[in-house]
Amino acid sequence: MLIFSGSSNPDLAKKISSHLGIELSPLDIHVFPDLEKRVRIIDSVVDKDCVVVQSTSIPADSHYMELFFIIDGLKRSGAKSITAVIPYLGYGRQDHIFRSGEAVSLDVIIHILENRGVSKVIVFDLHSIRIPELFNVPVSHLSALPLFAGEIIKNKWNDSDSVLVSPDMGGIRRIKQLSALLNTMQFVAIEKNRDLVSGTVTADTISGSLRNSCKRALIVDDMISSGGTIQVASKLLKQHGLSEVIVFATHAVFSDDAVKTLEESDVEKVYVTNTIYVGKEKQLEKLEILSTAEMVADELR
Ligand code: R5P
Repeated sequence: MLIFSGSSNPDLAKKISSHLGIELSPLDIHVFPDLEKRVRIIDSVVDKDCVVVQSTSIPADSHYMELFFIIDGLKRSGAKSITAVIPYLGYGRQDHIFRSGEAVSLDVIIHILENRGVSKVIVFDLHSIRIPELFNVPVSHLSALPLFAGEIIKNKWNDSDSVLVSPDMGGIRRIKQLSALLNTMQFVAIEKNRDLVSGTVTADTISGSLRNSCKRALIVDDMISSGGTIQVASKLLKQHGLSEVIVFATHAVFSDDAVKTLEESDVEKVYVTNTIYVGKEKQLEKLEILSTAEMVADELR
């Protein structure tokens, strides 16, 4: 097996390779002054099973183009199979038409991936569990929930003082799965609304019963983008008398002023994973990064 890394998350690619006990294969990615990229496969890949690791985080378009070029280069160079490890699948929130006239951006991306020769895709915590159905090639949909469960157990937060919280009704399935991993730990969900035009998030209702004895809320989400969801959810939870709010989110998208929003929020601690590379400048003090590398390596074995 040969493993190649795009430029979005070489740190994760190195960790995956190291778990598998193999070196990353070299790749020449040249960026021209106009920001166009030229990708070249250096060693022979003829009849080899190849893996490309590329997270399609900010800037999603540029990272996707690079991924398409790497896949195209591998295919044209005779690779036997190409597995795309896309730990964060950008455009996952544009998987269907919300308002008439909209493009289904994710469908366009899947079409290009498959058309260029991808044999299999490995992803983490997709925004919707229906996304794999849009693919014609096999999709391994991994989840960071076991990592979160491990952290919760390690910190002894799986007690009657704590409650799992989904910050929106769309996350109910996820919170039920985590509850099951934690011996049916209690959970509630927040009724969140987002204005489709402005993106503004509001939340004023908690659905489910919140025991008076509960002191600690463990919010679980697939991603933190602007941080708006976490900001309103944590504020609401504190208004309901919870004294501590801890956040678990798989993908640290961290767009706009997310880091500042999280820093100023009512949240005590934020756990994310390394599906997206978090640069030093974004590593706020209350942030902890869990590694998904071993899970990916196990899936590739
Ligand atoms: C929404 O449905 C998702 O599960 C996340 O809650 C959302 O994408 C987070 O975005 P933001 O941080 O911008 O509120």
